[in-house]
Amino acid sequence: MKNIIKIALDGPSGSGKSTIAKKISAKLNILYLDTGAMYRATALKALALGIDTFDEKGVSTFINDIDLQIKYVDGTQRTILDGVDVSEKIREPHVSMAASNISSLKCVRLKMVDMQRKIASQMSCVLDGRDIGSYVLPNADFKFYITASVDVRADRRFKELTLKGHKVDYAELKKEIEQRDYNDKTREFSPLVKAENAIEIDTSFMTIDQVIGKVLSYIE
Ligand code: DC
Repeated sequence: MKNIIKIALDGPSGSGKSTIAKKISAKLNILYLDTGAMYRATALKALALGIDTFDEKGVSTFINDIDLQIKYVDGTQRTILDGVDVSEKIREPHVSMAASNISSLKCVRLKMVDMQRKIASQMSCVLDGRDIGSYVLPNADFKFYITASVDVRADRRFKELTLKGHKVDYAELKKEIEQRDYNDKTREFSPLVKAENAIEIDTSFMTIDQVIGKVLSYIE
């Protein structure tokens, strides 16, 4: 294996990408960057400022100077916005939709991609997101497209949120996932696509360990 290795994991929300990316990074002892957290933090900033998450003009007033830092504490990514650790707050359901909306703005994507490339430039890493293999790291050594049916993804998210104590309506949640899929796949600039030469893995009927095994079998 060469010294520096870059792995791109893309796919729709709830496909299991982040769980897989975390385990792969631990197993290979390389950096993991959850790029979705960066879009979520940007959405949180817009919400705090009362700026509509589709308002490109409004968002462009703060995006270039956004005080957003990614830190690693005991190997876990922490997302710091304006000096405050927002790693938990950005997971709240209303932030998910706001993140999907704001991620369609070109000014946001340009800034985030620039930050992501800088973070990824110096070391071996695995990045998860929507456009990693197609746009952020087009020369990644390995590209995976992780997917699952909408029903399976809605079930997983429902369990995850319920476990965290959130009250969620299943039908509403499923509708939101479909809406986010639509937003992510149809946005003009850098949409969610399966990158050319990406390996597609449908995780609907696979356990996490089976998926990890499959991903590692390509890498190792
Ligand atoms: O992976 P996630 O659900 O935490 O991502 C939140 C939103 O951010 C998602 O709806 C789409 C957007 N996103 C993106 O557009 N590009 C990425 N590389 C990562 C996330």
